[in-house]
Amino acid sequence: HPRRELAGKRLLVTAAGTREPIDPVRYLGNRSSGKMGYALAQAAAARGAEVILISGPSGLPVPPGITIKRVETAAEMHNAVLADFDAVDIVIKAAAVADYRPELAAEQKIKKTGDTLTLSLVKNPDILYDLGQRKKRQLLIGFAAETEGLIEHAQEKLRKKNLDMIVANDVTLPGAGFNLDTNIVKLVHRNGMVEALPLQSKQQVAEIILDKICAMLTNST
Ligand code: C5P
Repeated sequence: HPRRELAGKRLLVTAAGTREPIDPVRYLGNRSSGKMGYALAQAAAARGAEVILISGPSGLPVPPGITIKRVETAAEMHNAVLADFDAVDIVIKAAAVADYRPELAAEQKIKKTGDTLTLSLVKNPDILYDLGQRKKRQLLIGFAAETEGLIEHAQEKLRKKNLDMIVANDVTLPGAGFNLDTNIVKLVHRNGMVEALPLQSKQQVAEIILDKICAMLTNST
């Protein structure tokens, strides 16, 4: 990259979905592939950042020069992110974290004895919310995947989680969202400004997100 504008900066990205165990062979999961987060990690490393990628299960290749930490559950991701948080300058939370997990993971494979099976779920910690409470100098960027009320929900999350920017994603649009190579997003800023980006590759979206981060870093020094 001609401008190694993130040299000397440490950037933590989370990517992919979490898996919440039901029993030794089953889990609750979601459709996140990790493509957006991995594209961000690669693009940030190309700009000279020291990148830590905390990833849920994903078959994607790990870009060279990146420290990868693999996790499975939201609780493991929570621990991994908090362990590195104080040492980083920028956090981008592109992971699709399960909001709930089975209250108990059965020790043995659950047998198909009944005609119905009820799982009791408990709430997972909101990792990004916790980071927003703790943050000092860090820039915090979140993602919001929505199927309705895109901007309103994104603005509310930005405020509630004390973020610097949120990337809002209407996952119902063709060309946007899970498991695709393209995305259509709106960038929602702290000052209320909303920028709608056209359909483009996740690599291109990653570059624009990093451009905004670099601009925020310049403005804050
Ligand atoms: O509230 P919602 O899940 O829609 O917010 C999405 C953002 O919050 C994403 O950046 C996601 O990584 C993060 N998040 C989190 N921990 C959770 C749930 C979401 O860090 N338990």
